[in-house]
Amino acid sequence: MNEYDSGVMKEMLVKNGFVYTDNPEIADIVIVNGCVVREKPEKKAIETLRYFKEKGKFTVAAGCVAQKDKQNLKDVADVVIGPMEYDILLDVMGKGGIYTDFADYRDRFYKYAQNRKDISFSEYVTIMTGCDNFCSYCVVPFTRGREKSRSIDDILAEVEHLVRMGVKEITLIGQNVNSYFYEGFEFKDLLEKVALIGPPRIRFTTSHPRDISIAVFDVIKRYSNIMPWLHLPLQTGSTRLLKEMKRGYTKEEFVYITRLARKIVPGMTISTDIMVAYPSETEEDFEQTIEVVKEIEFDYAYMFIYSPRKPSSAFYRYKKTLPRDVAVKRHRKLVDTVQEIVIKKRRKMIGKRYTLLIDGHSKKDPNVSRGKTEGNITVVVNKKLPAGTFVDVVITDVKGVTPFGNIIS
Ligand code: 5AD
Ligand code: SF4
Repeated sequence: MNEYDSGVMKEMLVKNGFVYTDNPEIADIVIVNGCVVREKPEKKAIETLRYFKEKGKFTVAAGCVAQKDKQNLKDVADVVIGPMEYDILLDVMGKGGIYTDFADYRDRFYKYAQNRKDISFSEYVTIMTGCDNFCSYCVVPFTRGREKSRSIDDILAEVEHLVRMGVKEITLIGQNVNSYFYEGFEFKDLLEKVALIGPPRIRFTTSHPRDISIAVFDVIKRYSNIMPWLHLPLQTGSTRLLKEMKRGYTKEEFVYITRLARKIVPGMTISTDIMVAYPSETEEDFEQTIEVVKEIEFDYAYMFIYSPRKPSSAFYRYKKTLPRDVAVKRHRKLVDTVQEIVIKKRRKMIGKRYTLLIDGHSKKDPNVSRGKTEGNITVVVNKKLPAGTFVDVVITDVKGVTPFGNIIS
């Protein structure tokens, strides 16, 4: 989401006479578009702002870090601008100040995305912003505001433009894409319309286990350009904790939906987000997470230790977090469990054929390239290949969790 927003900011500024550089050391103005979902990236964003402020640059704090920490950023940022005010970015660049109202002129801002010229082979398209779920641990509803779906015409115009520019992959993004709703069009309708425009590869993220529907799986199955990949955050395998987190599903419902997805869409890969050491997580809750992970056999997972986030409800409810050693131990065990499953799954790829979309070649060794399967698994190929090309490979080996492929000529 931030990456997409940064791209639109760039488009907006460059169109209006600013000159872009990806080397902040030589820039006059540095914009830091920072994430605050966990404490670490938040600190990093603030440190980066401080570093460039001390070097005498004009600094702009943008994104959720601006929204959440507006008052504390005065010393490090000349402009503090939240994600709901990006449309006025141009007007405030020279002025300085704090702009964090939930003004919501995002449609105006996203218009800049519609004709963007500087595109890569793989592009994001935002379809909705904000979140109404208020999961107990999460800061997003406070920084990004309420859910708002973009106009379907705007989204389709953007997709058409990207396809005309030769994009190979489009990922539809939003905090909860399944709750997309605009003038009678649901997510499944939007997905189908995007598929008909014809980008070679379409993905979407993030899905919410409570809101994803069989109808979406049916659309994925019907269109060969919608990739068989689902990112479905589990968070925890304990139904008791899921309830406390206000996730809106049980462990059994989650398992059921993943089974259904794999049944309807052959070869569907499923990735997830999991959190350990929520303040009230017991050893038993944690073991249930391990059980669910073993049952579902995720294709890969992002795993986090709970981080208290003001003003989420869990932040106020729990004064203390679990001891660090308990959190680290659980995280380690989860990572090891996932790793074991992933290695097993990758080994099963040996001898099979996949089509890769190449991300590019390694800087260290140009004769080594990486690409992604339709199921979003990264494969290494021993050949110099330009980003954005499709190649067919057969998997010949797996080292750690990384499959290696030979090109089929
Ligand atoms: N602590 C740790 N992880 C979190 N996430 C969201 N909020 C927190 C938090 N307070 C994780 C969730 C989410 C992913 C984007 O970040 O797993 O799915
Ligand atoms: Fe946060 Fe929950 Fe919304 Fe995801 S669904 S952004 S975890 S509040």
